[in-house]
Amino acid sequence: MCGIVGAVASRNVTAILVEGLMRLEYRGYDSAGLAVIDTENNLQIRKAVGKVKGLVDNLDTNPASGSVGIAHTRWATHGKPTEKNAHPHQSNDIAVVHNGIIENHAELRQALKNQGYVFVSETDTEVIAHQIHALVNNGLSLLEATQQAVALFEGAYAIAVVNTKFPDELIACRSGSPLVLGLGIEENFVASDQMALRQVTDRFVFLEEGDFVHLERKKFSIFNGDKELVERKVVQLTDKAEAASKGEYRHYMLKEIFEQPEVLKRTLQGRISKHHVLEEAFGTEAKAIFDRVKGVQIVACGTSYHAGLVAKYWMESIANIPCQVEVASEYRYRKVFVPKDTLFVTISQSGETADTLAALKEAKKSDYLASLVICNAPSSSLVRESDLVFMTHAGPEIGVASTKAFTTQLVALQLLTIALGRRQGLSESVESDMVSALASLPEAVSKALLLDDVIKKTSEAFADKHHALFLGRGVEYPVAMEGALKLKEISYIHAESYPAGELKHGPLALVDSDMPIVAVAPNNELMEKLKSNLEEVQARGGKLFVFSDQADAFPNSDDVTVIDVHSVPETIAPMVYTIPLQLLSYHVAIVKGTDVDQPRNLAKSVTVE
Ligand code: G6P
Repeated sequence: MCGIVGAVASRNVTAILVEGLMRLEYRGYDSAGLAVIDTENNLQIRKAVGKVKGLVDNLDTNPASGSVGIAHTRWATHGKPTEKNAHPHQSNDIAVVHNGIIENHAELRQALKNQGYVFVSETDTEVIAHQIHALVNNGLSLLEATQQAVALFEGAYAIAVVNTKFPDELIACRSGSPLVLGLGIEENFVASDQMALRQVTDRFVFLEEGDFVHLERKKFSIFNGDKELVERKVVQLTDKAEAASKGEYRHYMLKEIFEQPEVLKRTLQGRISKHHVLEEAFGTEAKAIFDRVKGVQIVACGTSYHAGLVAKYWMESIANIPCQVEVASEYRYRKVFVPKDTLFVTISQSGETADTLAALKEAKKSDYLASLVICNAPSSSLVRESDLVFMTHAGPEIGVASTKAFTTQLVALQLLTIALGRRQGLSESVESDMVSALASLPEAVSKALLLDDVIKKTSEAFADKHHALFLGRGVEYPVAMEGALKLKEISYIHAESYPAGELKHGPLALVDSDMPIVAVAPNNELMEKLKSNLEEVQARGGKLFVFSDQADAFPNSDDVTVIDVHSVPETIAPMVYTIPLQLLSYHVAIVKGTDVDQPRNLAKSVTVE
C-alpha cells in the first residue's frame, strides 16, 4: 500500500528518501517518486512506474538533490499506475504526497478547475496540491493552507507537503492513515511507517488522528486540528530494528515460513507455565475484564480473518463461549446487535488495516465490555487504540502473503480461548493438556517443515492448472480457506475453499481431471465424513492431494497423492497443517515464476478501505 517518507535536514536527503521507500517496498506498490527542494530553490521531481529501483535508475540519469524533500510509493486507487499518476503531485511551487483517499475529490476538482487549475493526472491527490496552492496564494502560510485545505477533505488520508516559498519546512498531517515523526539531531523526518526511518533514527512520535506537524531542521510543532498546539510522547524504540534481510533464503516468504518454530517459541514465551496460561500476557487489566466476558466478537481482514474463524471453533467447543467472526469491511457498515458482556477482538498483523481500525472505532461507540487486539506491530494504531493488547512477537513479516503472522495469531487465540474457558468450566486437566500441546508446537512445526521436498515435487502438478479446490471440515475448514488464499495470492491460480460437506451442493459440478483438490484431513471425529466426501470427488475423476496423518486410510492411486503429516494433538493441528499448505503455495508460485514476495495488485498493509 502507499508509503510516505519525508525529511528536513542540512544534508542532501535524496538517499534517505530512497532508502526509506525501499524499506516500505514490502507493503506493495506500483510506482514511486520523490520531490526535493534544490539549492536554487527549485522543486526537483523524479518518478518511475514499477519498482523503486526504476526511480534509482531515473536519479542516476537525472540526479536530484536537496535538503528538504518528500517521497512516495503509490498503490493505485484513482487512475492507473502511470508516471503522471505517480506522486509527488505538483501545483506550481508545491509538491504533495498522499496516502489514502479523498472521497469528495470530484467536486473539489471541479471547483479548482473553475479557478483555472489544470489537472494532469487522474488522481485525487492532485486536488490536494492545487487546493493548498490556492490557499497559499491567498497569503496563508504553508501550515495554515494545509489546515484549511484539509478541512475541505472527506476521507482518510496522510499527507506531506513542501513548498519552495517555505524552503525550510515540511508540513504533514494524518486523518485515518498512519503517520510517524522521526527525530534526528538537527534533522527531522516523517513517514507512514517507522520502518522507513530506522536507518536514521530510533526516536519517534506517533501522530494521532487530526494531528498536523510543522517540521523544521531543529524543531517541530504538532497541532491537533487548526489551533491547539499539543505535546506528543517521544518513543525510543529499543527493538533491534531487525534488518529485513532474506538471509540464506530465496524469498522473504520462504524465510518467514521457516522462521515459524522460532517465532512460535517467542509467542509462547512468558505466556504459559507448565500447566497454565498466564493471562498477564493480555495486559494487567485483562483479569478483571475476562472475569466478565460472556461472548466474543472477532473482526479482522484477510489471513487474520481466517485466524478468527479457527478461533470460533475453539471458543465455542473448548471455552463454551459464543463467538461471532466477521470481516471488518462488512462489520464497520452494519448495525450490529451486541450481547451483554461481549469482548471485541481485532486481529491484525500490521495494526493499520483501515477497515479493522474503522471497525474498532465503531465498536467503541457500542456497548462492548472492552476491546482486545492481537497484533504483530508494536506502536501501531490498533495497538494504541485498544484496551487490551496481545503482541504476537512474530517479528517483521515482509512477504505480502502472511505466514508466520497467521500461526502466531492462532497461538494467541488459543491462549485467549483457554483464559476465557477457564471461567466457563474448562477443566484443569484439559487446560494442562492444551498447554503442553502448545509447548510442543515449535517442534511439531519443525517436523512439518521437513515436508518441504515432498511438497516441492507435488507442486509441479499445479503448474498448468487454472483452478483448485481446498476442502476441510470443522476447525480445518478455515485452515483450508487460508490454504486457498495463499495459493491465489501468490500463484494467481483461482482457488476456492469449501467445507467438504457442501461439495454436493455445487462445487462437485466443477470437478474433473483438470481440477486439483486439496484436502486437510487430520485424524479427528470428522475424518471419516471427509473421507466419504473425497470418495465422491474421486468417483468424478478429480485429482486429490490429501494432507493427513492417516495415510493408510486413503487409497493409494494415481489420482490420489497423500502427504503424510505426522500426528499431533488435535488442538494444534490447525497450526501444523497450515505449514504444508504455505509450502505448497510457495512452490507452486516458484514453478509458475510469479513475484512471490510482492504479488501483483496486493499490499502488505491495506491502509485504505
Ligand atoms: C492484506 C495483507 C494480508 C493480510 C490482510 C489483513 O491483504 O496482504 O496478508 O492478511 O491485509 O491485514 P492485517 O494487517 O490487518 O492482518
